[in-house]
Amino acid sequence: MQHYLQFSDLSADEYAYLFGRAALIKKKFKAYEKHHTLADRTLAMIFEKASTRTRVSFEAGMYQLGGSVVHLTTGDSQLGRAEPIEDSAKVISRMTDMVMIRTFEQTKIERFAAHSRVPVINGLTNEFHPCQVLADIFTFIEHRGSIAGKTVAWVGDGNNMANTWLQAADLLGFRVHVSTPSGYEIDQSVAGLRSADSYQVFADPLEACRGAHLVTTDVWTSMGYEAENEARRAAFASWCVDSHMMAAAAPDALFMHCLPAHRGEEVQAEVIDGPQSVVWDEAENRMHAQKALMEYLLLGRQA
Ligand code: CP
Ligand code: NVA
Repeated sequence: MQHYLQFSDLSADEYAYLFGRAALIKKKFKAYEKHHTLADRTLAMIFEKASTRTRVSFEAGMYQLGGSVVHLTTGDSQLGRAEPIEDSAKVISRMTDMVMIRTFEQTKIERFAAHSRVPVINGLTNEFHPCQVLADIFTFIEHRGSIAGKTVAWVGDGNNMANTWLQAADLLGFRVHVSTPSGYEIDQSVAGLRSADSYQVFADPLEACRGAHLVTTDVWTSMGYEAENEARRAAFASWCVDSHMMAAAAPDALFMHCLPAHRGEEVQAEVIDGPQSVVWDEAENRMHAQKALMEYLLLGRQA
């Protein structure tokens, strides 16, 4: 049994399979062809933080695979009334075939997985967002081909998305140019990196974007950090992806954002709504990539 708790849980070879499989699954979806490989399987989805894309993509995706879902939140289950994570894991995993969790500390999802009889998928923690970067790289491949050898510019917080991009670079052979305000840097040990070989730190966000094939950013304040909002607004003021940064990037550079976005904060409207932005494909691809992931975790490779 295999869990998907962080990007490094799968190998480069497994990602190559998943990207190919996601493309096939997407093609069938667009042609209204049935693809019921998970008929009669049930996915439990546990949300301890808000979500639009993650909920819709997993829920719609699971139904499209012929399965069904159970949706739980902290407010409407015993999870919010201090039932131990270990007990919840034992119970939920006896009744369902797979569990997706969005929560706070990575240690919570690790504890759940350690007591689960079924695969557990990380739908975002404070430290990582592997399903998002899975979809982002699938989107890059659709538009530009292999990401190996390419340069990704990360402009903004050294957060769950940044950590996940760095793990992906380590595994799939591309580089990340990271620019964060001081005090919000990447923590290599939290990111779980084997080395610093695949990334380079830039004080100036424009320099990080120079020559990049993909420019990407995220909110200044992630879920769970709202108390720091005012301090972050001041610290991040120069970390707004604008047309100058896009002009410094490679001529055919793409722009991505995991969404939700705040125009005028981490990105200018003309960038996210401009011709280099692929954010809507990126959001849609969550569903296709996660269908391939769920199928793989339950059934392994399909011919
Ligand atoms: N990108 C992402 O995970 O979006 P949601 O918070 O809407 O799920
Ligand atoms: N870094 C953001 C991503 C939201 C999808 C957060 O954790 O809130």
